Amino acid sequence: MEIEATALAFINAIKKLNNISEIDLEKSKFLGKSGILTKEFKKLSVLDGENKISEGKRLNAIKNQVEDAINNQIKIAKQLALNKKLKEENVDITLPVNKEFGSLHILSYEIRRIKEEYKAHGFLILDGPEVETEFFNFDALNIPKYHPARQSQDTFYIKDFQDTLLRTQTSCVQIRAMQKNALPLSMISIGKVYRNDQLDATHSPMFHQIEGLVVDNKPINIGNLKDALSKFVAFVFDVDSVSLRFRPSFFPFTEPSMEVDCCYSRENGNIKINKDGNSWLELGGAGMVHPNVFKYCGIDTEPYGFAFGFGLERLVMLKYGINDIRSLYDTDMRILKHYSSIASN
Ligand code: PHE
Repeated sequence: MEIEATALAFINAIKKLNNISEIDLEKSKFLGKSGILTKEFKKLSVLDGENKISEGKRLNAIKNQVEDAINNQIKIAKQLALNKKLKEENVDITLPVNKEFGSLHILSYEIRRIKEEYKAHGFLILDGPEVETEFFNFDALNIPKYHPARQSQDTFYIKDFQDTLLRTQTSCVQIRAMQKNALPLSMISIGKVYRNDQLDATHSPMFHQIEGLVVDNKPINIGNLKDALSKFVAFVFDVDSVSLRFRPSFFPFTEPSMEVDCCYSRENGNIKINKDGNSWLELGGAGMVHPNVFKYCGIDTEPYGFAFGFGLERLVMLKYGINDIRSLYDTDMRILKHYSSIASN
């Protein structure tokens, strides 16, 4: 019976250990190659028949008990170690904080500002996919195949996927919106567009467009468009009122189409949007929605509508006096911090 007593003493000793390597060391003393119990098992070889079986059973029972005790104690030790670690790594929330907070990039800041304002005025704020089909980017916008406008927008086509491209304009969101929503519809969409342009001070192969669309079965005219544009431009530049000028232009999806200019003056070399300024600045395009576009959207009531579209980067660059579009995409923290501090003041 001596081995039972030794085992019991061993189990009691194990229960006092809270350290895994100490438990392992004790384990090897008992169950290892030349451990106490292993030696007992070796003695079995000299026994015969019945004796060997009963002695074997006895030793195995002891082995199981010892192993259970060891495994249990390892579990306890692991839990204790984890508790200790959690306690040590406890974050002291009373320590002084790092006061350097991040801020929104000015493009994000302006996007949010415009979206919030227009949402508050009941406009839907919509976006669509950046990978588009030719139908939404061109056909439905009244730009048939082989129309020169397709070339002028230097499209990135997606290789191996027929009719698939990176959208060149957010006008495709208008189509999706008109297919889905009942009239009257007032919407703003802001998103990334892609054109195969070389990156330089004023061009980027990726930039953002802001587009507005208002459609109703009741008459809407150019006067309404001018009013909406004046409010939009004044809001973007944060001024009370603006003076706009329309120049005849061409967009396949609007008729008539126009370029929108805004009156400005120069103050200390900086552009200042100013109702009584003496020069004109080109801002973007606009027009009355072409009847063909309504047809492509499946609208047969012949409604009235206007649309306008601007490059966000251009607006932001004019507003903040930035003369290189690349500084909007660079990771130069000095520039990013400088402009975001102006934006949030
Ligand atoms: N989508 C046009 C462009 O990319 C801009 C525009 C939008 C013009 C809506 C008129 C009306 O140039």
